[in-house]
Amino acid sequence: MRTPAIVVNFKVYPEVLGRRGWNLAKLCADVAEDTGASIAIAPPAPDLAHIAKLVRVPVFGQHVDAVPAGAHTGWVSPEALLEAGAAGTLINHSERKVPNKNVRAILPRCRELGLEVIACADTIAEAEALARISPDLIAIEPPELIGGDVSVTTAKPEIVAGAVERIRAANPKVRVLCGAGVKTSKDVRKALELGTVGVLLASGVVKAKDPEKALRDLVRGLR
Ligand code: G3P
Repeated sequence: MRTPAIVVNFKVYPEVLGRRGWNLAKLCADVAEDTGASIAIAPPAPDLAHIAKLVRVPVFGQHVDAVPAGAHTGWVSPEALLEAGAAGTLINHSERKVPNKNVRAILPRCRELGLEVIACADTIAEAEALARISPDLIAIEPPELIGGDVSVTTAKPEIVAGAVERIRAANPKVRVLCGAGVKTSKDVRKALELGTVGVLLASGVVKAKDPEKALRDLVRGLR
């Protein structure tokens, strides 16, 4: 994924299920093409393959399981994500936590397959621990601000700056995103000022009255 970037996590909000999610994916792709901004999306798992065929922006899984291909009913392997057309995956989102050892197990397999990994961290300490195992990106997201109206960049800029600093010290190759409550170009601009390479967000676009207007505003913050 080219950075600076905006990553839109669709979660499984009712607004993104089925056709509505396909439309949102197309909207994200149109805005990306129109503005030249780097926008990636993470649609619900059942729609990932369809959406990956529909649009040219990078499509990420919302989660991946550390299971090998084989008899593992109901799990999502990295190979399955790749076959579905994913460019990468989130892992360890605060709504889908996994033990650090699972992240550790999944990273070399994703790397081998060319899947980019965005590991999420709830705290600075977790971000630092994740940096040591070298995901491509870490998204710092304080859980208490997720889905709210105040951006982490306003409510807790010191957490974003602290995470950037500790991640850099632990592993300078890892790029940092931040998320939770990010809704406007001002929030994105501040995220970049704090040393990140972009934002991971959901409700600011998915729940917006006018998602296109919201996304176009967010993109302005990348410039
Ligand atoms: O993965 C993005 C996320 O958890 C932040 O959600 O709704 O606060 O942008 P939101």
